[in-house]
Amino acid sequence: MSDAAPAASDPATSMIWTRLARAPALAVLVDLDGTLLPFAPTLEEAALDDAAAAVLRGLAAVGVAVVVVSGRPRAAIDPIRAAVPAAWWFAEHGAWRHTDGSWQPPTVAAELGDLARRLALLAERTPGARLEQKSLAVGLHWRRVDEAERPRLIASAELVVDEWLETQPAYERLDGAAVLEVRHRAAHKGTAVAWVRAHLPVGARFVALGDDVTDEDTFAALTDDDAAVLVGAPDRRSHADWWVADPAGARALLRWLVEARVGQGPPPSAPVRPWTRARAAQPQHPLVIVSNRTPTVGAGRGKEVGGLVSALTPIVERTGGVWLGWSGAERAPGLALAFDPEPPPALATFDYPPGWREAFYGGFCNQSLWPLLHCFPGRVRYVDDEWTTYVTANETYARLAARLTPPTGTVWIHDYHLLLAAAALRRLGHVGPIGLFLHVPFPPRDVWETLPWHVEVIDALLACDLIGFHTRRWADNFLAAAPHGVAGLRRDGDQLAHGARATTVGVFPIGIEPAGFRPPPDGDPADDLDGLRALLAGRKLVLGVDRLDYSKGIPERLEAFRRLLQLFPAWRGRVSFVQVSVPSRAEVPEYAELRRRVEELVGRINGEFGEAAWVPVRYLYRSYPADVLAPLYRLAAVGMVTPLRDGMNLVAKEFVAAQRDDDPGVLLLSRFAGAAEALDAALLTNPYHVDGVAADLDRALRMERDERRARHARLIAAATAPTAAGWADAFLARLAEVTAVRLTSN
Ligand code: UDP
Ligand code: G6P
Repeated sequence: MSDAAPAASDPATSMIWTRLARAPALAVLVDLDGTLLPFAPTLEEAALDDAAAAVLRGLAAVGVAVVVVSGRPRAAIDPIRAAVPAAWWFAEHGAWRHTDGSWQPPTVAAELGDLARRLALLAERTPGARLEQKSLAVGLHWRRVDEAERPRLIASAELVVDEWLETQPAYERLDGAAVLEVRHRAAHKGTAVAWVRAHLPVGARFVALGDDVTDEDTFAALTDDDAAVLVGAPDRRSHADWWVADPAGARALLRWLVEARVGQGPPPSAPVRPWTRARAAQPQHPLVIVSNRTPTVGAGRGKEVGGLVSALTPIVERTGGVWLGWSGAERAPGLALAFDPEPPPALATFDYPPGWREAFYGGFCNQSLWPLLHCFPGRVRYVDDEWTTYVTANETYARLAARLTPPTGTVWIHDYHLLLAAAALRRLGHVGPIGLFLHVPFPPRDVWETLPWHVEVIDALLACDLIGFHTRRWADNFLAAAPHGVAGLRRDGDQLAHGARATTVGVFPIGIEPAGFRPPPDGDPADDLDGLRALLAGRKLVLGVDRLDYSKGIPERLEAFRRLLQLFPAWRGRVSFVQVSVPSRAEVPEYAELRRRVEELVGRINGEFGEAAWVPVRYLYRSYPADVLAPLYRLAAVGMVTPLRDGMNLVAKEFVAAQRDDDPGVLLLSRFAGAAEALDAALLTNPYHVDGVAADLDRALRMERDERRARHARLIAAATAPTAAGWADAFLARLAEVTAVRLTSN
């Protein structure tokens, strides 16, 4: 018997489903493979069997609009269409539509030839791999590839795809079941929902069934009156409200719909189970973390585990909280919440509606606020329309957060993307604690006031009970700038008092989880770094690890390395510089320009100083997991962490934590990184002074072991406490404290 057998114990479910089944206008949207049909190794083997066709015909016979929304190419739909003559058919995820007796082509064209050629080469070399080309997508399948061969194929395909996507913003990557697909953003199943809705009577209700990540687009395009049914185990990110276990369960549910639609009395229990109830009764979480984006988990492979994730996961888990943020995708209509119960932390994500990526994320957040807060007034631009989108986006985040928590719940907002969200939450009636942590610096008043809306932003921030910064310096800049222009606002120590209320400002330096970086007692195992060790051939390693961001001072660092080789020629051939640059915000012109500049500089230095047996600079444009970074940090004689300005800089702390106590490397640290406040035993340097950094680098490379050990002994304590989790606990404890004062004095 199917796992989705009638749930007789849940009358509420049957009531909701009976109403749906008897809706005057009803559409059933169903995916084929994995949803209505069990998976078969090839499309040829995945025929529409008689029973499945009969289920669909049965629905049509009771007046239900039957819509098949498949990822298959047209050629694999054509042979089965005749079995359900009344149905509407969508192929290639909605790119092609068969509705009035013929196929209607997509409205956009795709240029995928170059990518398809590169993936075809991989497929040719791997037995069982298959390339599938569609009008607006190309996919590499590995269902038939030997298990042992898969990791290599997947890693190579991901590299090819990610590199290609960097220059192709109109396309997106999809990680399906045993397939990696790239498709045009305009070709998704949500477009089928929009078309069908426009062709049915107003008020028609929809039931959609799907198993795959591509079906999420269908689900996300539904309204609160519709039902999204996930076919398969409910253990991944989904917009679904309901689930059945497998295709047999899906068929059982569709048969039940037919019976319930024509039956007179109460139908038997609906064979479907509620899951997230995203559109019905929303679960209420006592704590909601809100940040622009959540720690995104890429469909089961590769997971981003940054400092913030380690810091917040334990607290979200412990309190039964949830982390709300952008999924990373842009979609019409967007904004439907998808839930991902595991792995922890629990996530609630949504897609940006069209336009936000450009105007909100790439625009106001990263071309106005980021340079402003990092004190680069020359890079700032202010655009009225982008500000308007910023206001709308903040209001939307607040609305979604308010759905996830009761009015008394705790909301912890993160970073510069969401400076207006607290005020929007208060307007929605939220009375519970609201804290905001700014992960970036805060500039001096003169720079801050170049923001045309600086008064509005401060005014909105006063809705917070607590605002946190990494350092005393950023907190003081904020406290000094805030009172200007806001009527009735005055500074009172670390508080901003306004009327009967007060907002507290606090300093909470974020930490790392040191355990993942400390040296293993038995030394590093032989690993991928052996290749690098061989390349170094006994030379000293100078290491830089950053997102590719102009605030990180990467060109300035490269210039300083070049100057070292000029001013201290003895180092030529005896030192190598490795720069890991993690791709970041490539759609923002300033970042694309930075990439060009850095690559040119690397080429120039290698051309100027390189020899047959020595490449002075190695540049790696990619990211590594922490278990690769830790031994890399250890391999380095000098860690160059030289941002022009940085809220904190976790790489500095990780570098210190990774060093061996008896023979540590030297941290050469910018005095403009927030981390310099606690890590004052590092060799502090001024990244704007190229000759000075070169001289400091020379000193770091020559530093005797005694001095290195003495500095390290002081640094290690400062780099490992508080931990990431300790930081989060401290912030939330203070938030509870200051809110208690507010609530008792009201
Ligand atoms: N990081 C990583 N892989 C890399 C490079 C960096 O996981 O290849 C991580 C690094 O370990 C650190 C974070 O990215 O935890 C960067 O944080 P930081 O505060 O230094 O800078 P941000 O990128 O937040 O400005
Ligand atoms: C900094 C910001 C974060 C941001 C991260 C990555 O650390 O303070 O808020 O998430 O950079 O940037 P991205 O634009 O990729 O989210």
